[in-house]
Amino acid sequence: MRMIRRLSRAATAGLVAAAALTAAAHSAEAADTLGSAAAGQGRYFGTAVAASHLGEADYAATLDREFSSVTPENEMKWDATEPSRGTFTFTSADRIVDHAQSQGMDVRGHTLVWHSQLPSWVGSLGASDLRTAMNNHINGLMGHYKGEIHSWDVVNEAFQDGGSGARRSSPFQDKLGDGFIEEAFRTARAADPAAKLCYNDYNTDGVNAKSNAVYTMVKDFKSRGVPIDCVGFQSHFNPNSPVPSDYRQNLQRFADLGVDVQITELDIEGSGSAQAANYTKVVEACLAVDRCTGLTVWGITDKYSWRSSGTPLLFDGNYTEKPAYDAVLAALGGSGDPGDPGDPGDPGDGTVSCTATYTRTADWNSGYNGQVTITAGGEPISSWTATVTLPAQQTVSSLWNGTPTRSGNVLTVRPSWNGTLAAGASTSFGFTVTKNGSDAAPTVGGCTAS
Ligand code: G3I
Repeated sequence: MRMIRRLSRAATAGLVAAAALTAAAHSAEAADTLGSAAAGQGRYFGTAVAASHLGEADYAATLDREFSSVTPENEMKWDATEPSRGTFTFTSADRIVDHAQSQGMDVRGHTLVWHSQLPSWVGSLGASDLRTAMNNHINGLMGHYKGEIHSWDVVNEAFQDGGSGARRSSPFQDKLGDGFIEEAFRTARAADPAAKLCYNDYNTDGVNAKSNAVYTMVKDFKSRGVPIDCVGFQSHFNPNSPVPSDYRQNLQRFADLGVDVQITELDIEGSGSAQAANYTKVVEACLAVDRCTGLTVWGITDKYSWRSSGTPLLFDGNYTEKPAYDAVLAALGGSGDPGDPGDPGDPGDGTVSCTATYTRTADWNSGYNGQVTITAGGEPISSWTATVTLPAQQTVSSLWNGTPTRSGNVLTVRPSWNGTLAAGASTSFGFTVTKNGSDAAPTVGGCTAS
């Protein structure tokens, strides 16, 4: 099957080369997409992708227009690719790789050895069998995609949170000891010598005990010739875990060890100009480090984010570019903004838009309070509409700072006094729900503005 795909890839090489030339010509004219602007800085700009969304026209169109690299969000993980021992399934991952190749995009491989999304059979093996299974899994994945992946997350999240700098407990750590990471990298190098081999982790973005522990490991690997080419910094940020002030410094110290660094799973919860400013910090930090070779955001649209209620991505649920998108494009030296008539949601283009973000603000046995924050896009708005769909059992007992109409379990909410918002400004409405036995969250529908 891969043989057929490789042949078809070779057959499309001319098309891909032609597409690259077109992209280069386009970027010389005006780098008005994330991928072309990043290319102008010698970097890739990628996104995590779910195979199940590729059939959605707006999703695929945004992906194809904006990004130059993709990371399968779940489809290359162990539970998806080797759910039972020795039986490999590549259908969903192949779908993403095929799509990327048809568009001339690169692919990051995520991830080979990780304690999570690990089928239970792996955890039940004894040490010797586990070592064989780990190496077989690496060989199976990397062999299938040999020559088609620019960077692989060989080992993911092997260190503990907190101040100890210790390794995280996992079947690999507990049964094989510290040496499992080194062994995984050596196996990976032999399996696909062309792929960059990365160690990937979170909460290692600034200088701290965890990043110090990873730093010590990478330094040791480099000194002993263990094959490692890059370190991935996931960069999942929110108000409790903000962009660290020493982010650039931390990336630089790793780069100084002789490895590339990559921003691998970037998302930043928030909205409006504050979120945009944080994205700018991240892009500027990467551009300031020569060996920071690219950035990947962890999804395209807020509606499919693993943290969707925090609206952490560059496109809202309607695929409208958010202020954060404009900030990233500008930081990359792109010239699509402001006022490019081709960019919906940009300041000056006359397209009004808004986003709606849900949070639970209070919770008790029989009920909870919810709040929906409405944020205007790049143009001022004079009104907005959002929908709140409640789980079947739940009922709303009161709602404030908004005017609801009810149809079954769907509330359509319009402004009471708070319809007029400046570009990027926010307002919110709140409501009290009686649970009637269901603690599930409501679904907040996309915002429309006028
Ligand atoms: O596909 C099934 C669906 O059939 C089922 O109905 C549903 C019920 O829960 O689950 C669906 O699978 C979910 C999958 O995402 C696809 O949406 C899993 O439950 C859910 O656990 C899984 O979450 C993924 C998470 O990794 C698992 O650890 C997220 O999508 C993915 O964004 C996230 O990504 C990780 C990186 O790999 C490593 N770094 C942290 C990052 C964020 O957690």
